[in-house]
Amino acid sequence: MTNQIAPIGRPKVLVVDDVAANRELLQGHLDDLGYEVREARDGIEALEAVAAEEPDLILLDIDMPRLDGIAVCEQLKAHPIRRLIPIVILTASNDRGTKLRGIAAGADDYLSKPFDSKELLIRTKVLLRQRALNQRLDATEGVLFALARAVEARDRHTIHHAERVGRYAEAMGAAQGLSHEDGELLYHGGVLHDLGKIAIPDAILLKPGPLTAAEFGTMRQHSIEGERICLSLRSVAHYLPIIRHHHERVDGTGYPDHLAGSDIPIGARITAIADGWDAMVSDRPYRAGLDEDEALRRLRQGAGTQWDAGLVRVFVDLLDGGLTRRVTDSQLAAIA
Ligand SMILES: [Fe+2]
Ligand SMILES: [Fe+2]
Repeated sequence: MTNQIAPIGRPKVLVVDDVAANRELLQGHLDDLGYEVREARDGIEALEAVAAEEPDLILLDIDMPRLDGIAVCEQLKAHPIRRLIPIVILTASNDRGTKLRGIAAGADDYLSKPFDSKELLIRTKVLLRQRALNQRLDATEGVLFALARAVEARDRHTIHHAERVGRYAEAMGAAQGLSHEDGELLYHGGVLHDLGKIAIPDAILLKPGPLTAAEFGTMRQHSIEGERICLSLRSVAHYLPIIRHHHERVDGTGYPDHLAGSDIPIGARITAIADGWDAMVSDRPYRAGLDEDEALRRLRQGAGTQWDAGLVRVFVDLLDGGLTRRVTDSQLAAIA
């Protein structure tokens, strides 16, 4: 009898090589190491195998017919979830150029032929451990995003608000020339920005009328509460400035810290505009949404006091380019 609750499956390793003898050799080694082995004979088969069942690790030959290993690596590493599968490229020991191309395509490690079973064991073990850690981090993030959606589910008026804020912020980041990583960070920060509302009582959050001063004081706690919830989670540390500071104003009269101008982290300045816009044009329990012309007038009016004037210009340009329609359409497509 084992004294363990969760069953541990054998790690699944996908071996991709067009030479049958190489596959058999690796299969033998990997069997001995206790792995469950799948095989693919070229890049196309490899991608099909990954789509059918995600392996925990891929051993990938480079020169193959139909689709080579570099292309497989690039495709998998560009995928939001599959990029977390570790890839080890298989190369001839003297082939430095291929190793470098593999690493450039996002491979996590390489193994030189002929294979040494001890080296194989050590490298695969390290990568599988890393994978398990990544999956746990992923799970933590997943819980937070589920919480953020639960916050919205309490209030039909804000449904998909956070998602839109994330998309608007991401688009602003791209227009500002920020990197793809920063864009993702802005998107996730946007999705999580109001997470702290989970701590706000229904009587205030859902009140069908303007809030009293005391109620507004409670409502304002949501940015600090959101930060508090995420504080101990290393995987979401990057989003904390957005969560805490999305209600700061560039004139220094916002909350919680009365930061002004460029002291407000850029992610929070961007999110504040995305959030402000979506709040203005959406219906709320106590008022109908503004029409876009009026919202645009208020946005321009608040440039330099509530919001960063340069970023407001960026956002207005995006609105002129049809941003609202694009984001709403993609949301409708995601629901359908
Ligand atoms: Fe907020
Ligand atoms: Fe918000």
